[in-house]
Amino acid sequence: MNTENCPPLLNTSQMTGDLGGGNANKREMENQAFSSLTTSFAVCLTGTKKGCGIGGCGACTVMISTYDPVSKKILHYPANSCLLPICSLHGTAVTTVEGVGSTKTRIHPIQERLAKCHGSQCGFCTPGMVMSMYALLRNHPEPSMEQITAALDGNLCRCTGYRPIIESYKSFAGMRSGLCNPEEFQPADPSQEFIFPPELMRMAQEQQGRTLVFQGERTMWISPASLRELLELKTKYPKAPVVVGNTSVGLDMKIGGVHHPVILHPDRISELRIVNNTNNGLVIGAACRLAQLRDILMKAVSGLPEEKTKIFCALLQQLRTLAGEQIRSLASLGGHIVSRGSTWDLNPVLAVGNSVLNLTSTDGKRQIPLTDDFLSGCKNADIKPNEIIVSVLIPYSKKDDFVSAFRQAERRKNALSIVNSAMRVLFKPGTNVIMDLNILYGGIGSTTVSARKSCQKLVGRQWNEHMLGEACRLVLGEIFLSPSAPGGKVEYRRALLVSFLFKFYLQVLHGLKILDPSKYPDLPKKYMSALGNFECRPPQGRQVYQVKQPPQDPVGHPIMHQSGVKHATGEAVYCDDMHPIDGELSLAVVKSSKAHAKIVSIDASEAFKVPGVVDVVTASDVPGENGTKNEKAFAEEEVICVGQIICAVVAESDIQAKRGAEKVKIQYEELEPILTIEDAIKHNSYIGKEKKVEKGNIEKGFNSADEIIEGEMHIGGQEHFYLEPNSVLVVPRGEDNEMDVYSSTQYSSNVQELVASALDIQSNKIMCHIKRVGGAFGGKITKPSYFAVIAAVAANKTGRPVRFILERHDDMLIVGNRHPFFGKYKVGFMNDGRIVAADIQAYINAGCTPDESEMVIEFIVLKMDNAYKIPNFRVRGRACKTHLPSNTAFRGFGFPQSGLFAETWVTAVATQTGLPPEQVRDMNMYEGLNVTPFKEQFDATNLRKCWTECLEKSEYYSRKTAAEEFNKQNYWKKKGIAIIPMKFTAGFNKTFYHQAAALVHIYKDGSVLVTHGGVELGQGIHTKMLQVASRELKVPLSYIHLCETSTTTVPNALITAGSVGSETNGKAVQDACQILRKRLEPIIQKNPEGKWEDWIKEAFQESISLSATGYFKGYVTYMNWEKEEGHAFPYFIFGVACSEVEIDCLTGDHQNIRTDIVMDACFSINPAVDIGQIEGGFIQGVGLFTMEEIKVSPEGKQYTLGPDTYKIPAVCDIPEQFNVYFLPNTRNPIAIYSSKGMGEAGVFLGSSVFFAIRDAIASVRKERGLPENFTLNSPLTTEQIRMVCADDFTEMVMNHCFILFPILRILN
Ligand SMILES: Cc1cc2nc3c(=O)[nH]c(=O)nc-3n(C[C@H](O)[C@H](O)[C@H](O)COP(=O)(O)OP(=O)(O)OC[C@H]3O[C@@H](n4cnc5c(N)ncnc54)[C@H](O)[C@@H]3O)c2cc1C
Ligand code: FES
Ligand code: FES
Repeated sequence: MNTENCPPLLNTSQMTGDLGGGNANKREMENQAFSSLTTSFAVCLTGTKKGCGIGGCGACTVMISTYDPVSKKILHYPANSCLLPICSLHGTAVTTVEGVGSTKTRIHPIQERLAKCHGSQCGFCTPGMVMSMYALLRNHPEPSMEQITAALDGNLCRCTGYRPIIESYKSFAGMRSGLCNPEEFQPADPSQEFIFPPELMRMAQEQQGRTLVFQGERTMWISPASLRELLELKTKYPKAPVVVGNTSVGLDMKIGGVHHPVILHPDRISELRIVNNTNNGLVIGAACRLAQLRDILMKAVSGLPEEKTKIFCALLQQLRTLAGEQIRSLASLGGHIVSRGSTWDLNPVLAVGNSVLNLTSTDGKRQIPLTDDFLSGCKNADIKPNEIIVSVLIPYSKKDDFVSAFRQAERRKNALSIVNSAMRVLFKPGTNVIMDLNILYGGIGSTTVSARKSCQKLVGRQWNEHMLGEACRLVLGEIFLSPSAPGGKVEYRRALLVSFLFKFYLQVLHGLKILDPSKYPDLPKKYMSALGNFECRPPQGRQVYQVKQPPQDPVGHPIMHQSGVKHATGEAVYCDDMHPIDGELSLAVVKSSKAHAKIVSIDASEAFKVPGVVDVVTASDVPGENGTKNEKAFAEEEVICVGQIICAVVAESDIQAKRGAEKVKIQYEELEPILTIEDAIKHNSYIGKEKKVEKGNIEKGFNSADEIIEGEMHIGGQEHFYLEPNSVLVVPRGEDNEMDVYSSTQYSSNVQELVASALDIQSNKIMCHIKRVGGAFGGKITKPSYFAVIAAVAANKTGRPVRFILERHDDMLIVGNRHPFFGKYKVGFMNDGRIVAADIQAYINAGCTPDESEMVIEFIVLKMDNAYKIPNFRVRGRACKTHLPSNTAFRGFGFPQSGLFAETWVTAVATQTGLPPEQVRDMNMYEGLNVTPFKEQFDATNLRKCWTECLEKSEYYSRKTAAEEFNKQNYWKKKGIAIIPMKFTAGFNKTFYHQAAALVHIYKDGSVLVTHGGVELGQGIHTKMLQVASRELKVPLSYIHLCETSTTTVPNALITAGSVGSETNGKAVQDACQILRKRLEPIIQKNPEGKWEDWIKEAFQESISLSATGYFKGYVTYMNWEKEEGHAFPYFIFGVACSEVEIDCLTGDHQNIRTDIVMDACFSINPAVDIGQIEGGFIQGVGLFTMEEIKVSPEGKQYTLGPDTYKIPAVCDIPEQFNVYFLPNTRNPIAIYSSKGMGEAGVFLGSSVFFAIRDAIASVRKERGLPENFTLNSPLTTEQIRMVCADDFTEMVMNHCFILFPILRILN
């Protein structure tokens, strides 16, 4: 064997981006030949981000370019670097975001357009977005909009709502780009791109015949150059995986802890990359990537007769939604087939298509069919340990063949199927008599399963309704799913079995009719709607605001995010990107695996044996306070939730720290946990007292009502899923116990306070710094202080800097979520729809510590009326104490839950009275000057204006009529539309929360440095502060800089939250600037024609201080809970959203067709930032109410700990038409420049999608004669939609009642 040994990193790959330095999380230098690229960027490239580490978010996207010495072609493709083993990159060029463009050289048009079109907020997803687009443009310089949206399938963004990202790229497809002016764009010039390094071409030629061996400490990576060598190696190492894309093996190693001493990488073997057109079908090399497979199949479909390509079309359909483009570009056909996950989408199609695997080993060649037996791993149908798949024959279909593929997932794209299926029927030529039938399902058991017996029984039957009825009965009988099957959703999954079958039945009928129109009847028109899937169409949108400001005034214009370009070039520094500090240690935590238990012992002896482990830190190492009276930093004696931090391991590298943490043994004595709201109520387990607000006379109100209804609702929690996990770096300064703490917190002073108290030193020794945070949404208010304490205690103990970057799954486990909600209502109303009394009881699951839960339940109680004036109204709320991780603040702070609940009981009144929901909303809505149930005055005029304007802008009534007409014509798909009003409040119910401070320096050269207490979380606070300073000082923006948030410059800063951060800090910046301008005024008067620089020089000469602090005391707010009255909020924000959806009654899927939002944003300081907040919040609300589902085991363990199991909205989920209008000519005199805080308001408006789906479901149920007063919980997932659209299929499943031919009722 001709082998060449290469040292691990630097010789293995050439980088077009300069691999030069280190994201701290990427510091592990040794043993990294086999680690993923993100954990191996050891030389100073920090642009590539790690958001999840498991291929699910796209933040780590890079472009790989390879040269094929045989075809002499260069291939570019995007890839998730977190799954890329560095050895697999030998001979490739890796382009990171730094290689695309930089402010130091030249920014690329992609980066420029993304920044200018406001496509970044926190910026953590942005390099990944740039790289996905860059790889697309390298292959398609003039892409279509479909290609652009598909290129972003694998990229998640939690901030923007995607619309501006897509719009920024529209210009490459020759279209207008949202709020930006295309004339400002540099032209795209493909000739300016990096060329593929010629030395790599030479290397590829020269090394064609060499086997490459990379020997690491624990693993040997072998890349053979010939098939013969691969076979020899496979005989020598039969257990060694043949890694191509590493998307399956890599995950097993990362998540499953699997270790492979030898890995074989067959990427350079040409036999595994062949594409041959044969008489029987296409023969495709096993190492062919799924993206290549798609292109090959598309070419085949366009070039061959339709009858031959039915299997190819079914594969293409699955490939359109399978993962994201990065995974499709990595994953191979052979890897897909051999790893054969139960939900893998291509295998059922390949199997029904009678594909054949061409195998080779040192024993010779053979062929085996890719059957259900192969897929279930039957020994005699499987490949042998020493065999490899060389290629796969995918046969042509026949004229009388019908092939279909189905899948339903929690999200349409980039989500594994809940159930998938492929079905194929072959008829006797010229008849509808079944000659062969094959049905396979995925997602039902641990492997793909076949309904083989059912199919055999149906051979010889005619394709008609009788056959269908029997087929359903047989399939439900054969495909077993136990009630306790892993993954749950048992009834839904069973419903999908028959729903897919029914779809197939109709598709075939339709196909037969097309084949022979004279012989077969038309499919009834209304059933045609069962055919076809929802497509992801490129979104369109309008954003309308008023600018009446002169161009020289920086306020009121859509100015680009201060860091927009740096986000796009990857130069923006986050905590994890800071250069490693001499002697720095990494920290990993040991967490409780029990929900409630006594800690019997902590045994760290094995951890100390792990090389590199320096120390183990526990509560006993805390010199001062171990957290606060409400929450401990390290558990002591008892654990109160799964995920609670017990101790921490510090080591020379993060991998060693994690290995060490795995070795710590904890012994528990288990105690009974309380997990649910119902349990807590039963055990009287609450945090704080009941909060109540009552108005009018509730009993009298009910007595006067024509009718009273009662109901309940559950609203699930929500993961923050900011793209940057919590991070902290603590650096002891070496004297006077001083420490610098770099944290991704929303609350700098709290980090400082808790660290000081833990170390038992004064706060003045702790310097907390925050450059920027990669998204927060409330999840980085309380917990980062505890993470900082843990790192600081470790730094204090070891005397060395300590960095603690949470892995995505730890972050999701530890930080807590939006509070799950349970509400009960009793509502009295008149027959005309007027609500006269409402009695509401609200509960939230607070988790194990108080955190912010008392304030959240207060807000829920205070905001439960939403937009409605109910004369007699009582609302009571309790925060339930349970043994779940403590739930915490989340954008909207309780209002999304209370608002959804309020709209639910208003909808219930509409259903009960038979009135249109918008009419009931309208008649009960506040009007003009008013008071809330807690007696705060407000003016609802703008609420009404938003309502009227939204009705008009959305063309609500005509679209409602059109939807009703559509619904009459379509039995299996229904449209729904809803318009939802909102009365939201900004700020807090205590004055001190609104105080803010700023410090502004003017330097002798005239440049200005602004600092304030707010944290840049992506919401554009720094950009707005620059605009404020620029207006007040009357200097251009280019003179002003904003460096960081720090406790050294602004002490005692309050949390950046509650939608008021920009305006309260804006008032402080304004104050400081006005003080400075006042000091300068005499000098300006003396020399009015002078320049700013002259005045500053003069001021300095005259000993005028050029530094000032500014302060804002805060809006006066209070709430007296005894009297149930107060002025709880500084002001109100009104908005209305109208959404339209279409649902698929057979699968539960839905399509967001259009949303119009009218928002009372008053005078926006920066309309682009505010529209971004509204859109991003709205999409987060759509996620909350329709998709994001947290799953917890009966023992209190959260299952949903990453993008693989928890789905946030992706590009495919945004409305096809998404319009945002600011209500014209409104002002908010209380806030700076008459603006309003837009940070949170959009979230609740996502509920318009919930109610539009409800409307569609109501139409289904009405048509089917089902009760119309049904209950829906949130999130309204595909499962809930499908099951509530009850039909004979769901009935069959629920009753396990296999009535013969039940479908006849549906068809007749
Ligand atoms: C984020 C993410 C999202 C995903 N989403 C989807 C989805 O929506 N739908 C879906 O269907 N799948 C999805 N997948 C799964 C994906 O399809 C598979 O992981 C992938 O196809 C495996 O291919 P690979 O080349 O990466 O395999 P590898 O991980 O490289 O190898 C997998 C296995 O195949 C064996 N193998 C590979 N080639 C050969 C060969 N020629 N001969 C013998 N054995 C071989 C290896 O020994 C190994 O055991 C997703 C995966 C990820 C990570
Ligand atoms: S970090 Fe690689 S995909 Fe999320
Ligand atoms: S800007 Fe996309 S995640 Fe923040």
